[in-house]
Amino acid sequence: MISVAIDGPAGAGKSTISKQLAKKLGFIYVDTGALYRAIGLKFLRGGFDTKLECDILAELENVKIDIKFIDGEQRVFLNGEDVSTLIRTPDASMMASAVSAKPPVRAFLLEMQRKLARENNVIMDGRDIGTVVLPDATVKIFLTASVETRANRRFLELKERGSAATFEEVLDDMKVRDYNDSNRAIAPLKPAEDSVIVDTSDLDFNQSVDTLYNIIKEKM
Ligand code: DC
Repeated sequence: MISVAIDGPAGAGKSTISKQLAKKLGFIYVDTGALYRAIGLKFLRGGFDTKLECDILAELENVKIDIKFIDGEQRVFLNGEDVSTLIRTPDASMMASAVSAKPPVRAFLLEMQRKLARENNVIMDGRDIGTVVLPDATVKIFLTASVETRANRRFLELKERGSAATFEEVLDDMKVRDYNDSNRAIAPLKPAEDSVIVDTSDLDFNQSVDTLYNIIKEKM
């Protein structure tokens, strides 16, 4: 099986670019952030805040996460409920970042991600795919862009969905998430040693897709 690991900070364009690449290559696209988001939603609904002062392992006993591919699109299910849209709010983003720093949560999701890559040709995006989840991935790409560029992209995306969040709020959230994701003790966001680093700050969508497509084709 062929696996393409795409890691990088929030807003670098991982998901939109990966989706397009998956179509071009005929692979499935696995958005691993959605798995952390679904667990974050469960904790939000449980009334916890990002300090997560609770027995995480005990809480996880009541969590079942599934993903299904419907018309080529990944849908995420939390205890049987399709939460694919509900996990996209700013609160769910922050909670996803918080839960993802917890070792039991990472352990809980690890085998599920590896199984998908054993059984399918995948483009998998996240933070630790090349470093932890798929250390033997066929191709590893670290996709990044300046924090202002990333915040602006996320701001426009949220606005389109009717969110009232301001650019400053999105930028502040992005900085907090960058810090959390890069400085946690377990599986922090960092490029794998054998990854190709691509900065999309000055690339538009098509240029980004082409750049990655060429890197992948060359490595395959
Ligand atoms: O990619 P995203 O923004 O949907 O991810 C949501 C959060 O999940 C992000 O703040 C970090 C975490 N995450 C992670 O720790 N490891 C992954 N492989 C994917 C996401």
